Amino acid sequence: MIEWPARIELAQLPTPITKLERFSQRFKDTTIWVKRDELTGTEVSGNKIRKLEFCIAEAKSQACDTLITCGGIQSNHCRATAVLGARLGMKVHLILRGEEPDVPEGNLLMDYLCGAKISYLSQAQWSSHEALAKKLQDDCVSGGGKAFFIPVGASDEVGLWGYIKASEELNQDFLGLQMEPEYIVTATGSGGTQAGLIVGTQLLGMKSQVVAFNVSDDAAYFDKKIREDVTLWKQRYNQEFDVEKMKVKTVEGYLGPGYGVAGPEIFDTIAELASSEGIFLDPVYTGKAFHGMVSELQKGDEGQLSRAKNVVFIHTGGLFGVFPQQHNFRFD
Ligand SMILES: Cc1ncc(COP(=O)(O)O)c(C=O)c1O
Repeated sequence: MIEWPARIELAQLPTPITKLERFSQRFKDTTIWVKRDELTGTEVSGNKIRKLEFCIAEAKSQACDTLITCGGIQSNHCRATAVLGARLGMKVHLILRGEEPDVPEGNLLMDYLCGAKISYLSQAQWSSHEALAKKLQDDCVSGGGKAFFIPVGASDEVGLWGYIKASEELNQDFLGLQMEPEYIVTATGSGGTQAGLIVGTQLLGMKSQVVAFNVSDDAAYFDKKIREDVTLWKQRYNQEFDVEKMKVKTVEGYLGPGYGVAGPEIFDTIAELASSEGIFLDPVYTGKAFHGMVSELQKGDEGQLSRAKNVVFIHTGGLFGVFPQQHNFRFD
């Protein structure tokens, strides 16, 4: 039995799991399923809300009235925090990496609409973002309030619970469908979704292997980060868990030019899935991971997803990140 910490129910759960009827036809032996976590809500959609259910519960238990978090200009996590802050009557201060644009679009537009305060740090200044967060926390105390800091992507020992809980939901999905996929595939950016799925599937004794496609750092980074976060989680929540036994599998090769920058094949993949199934991926996270998954499946036994009868792709959201990159789509 898993003993869950405090959680606030914010996401629309359970999310559906959809079989890709038409898209899967290109594979002889494999069926692709999508766990529709882009449907955890409308304004607060995607994977971050599952983690924030635990992080914000923790903030509330510490009597905080303000949330401080950080990420890229088009961070889905920052947008989710801004919307939830507005919804729960909490103040939100975001520290964003990059220059302030003349016109805010996509996620950033939503941050402003939700009334979040925003500080911009250039790439060169980014290493000081946690020091700035600390200063903002101190300023908050001077003003009679209390601020809770959530790290990039809510990927820490608290946010980890989000995808442990999601694994429980997946387990129910698989029981209902009477299938146990060989692989559960996700994009990995700050590591928390991947980490939660690995811990959750291991705790629940599920046979599916978690395979992540990196959209930022390399496989060695995720291996280290996940083992550190899981060790902290184990200590903080007094969990019996074998960190050594964890299989952290991160497949490299699909990052493209860099974080947030995608090649034409990613935009083509987004258009292909939209037109064949009516499901929208994004160019920063899910488009790259989905493209990586399809490419590995096409390699058959030589690929990283060999002998897959059923593969479940976790759709982690990101739709609002499509619009700032709309000029990259090609229509014949
Ligand atoms: C849409 C989307 N998918 C995937 C990820 C990656 O999740 P994680 O940060 O937990 O690795 C993120 C956030 O970074 C995201 O916004």
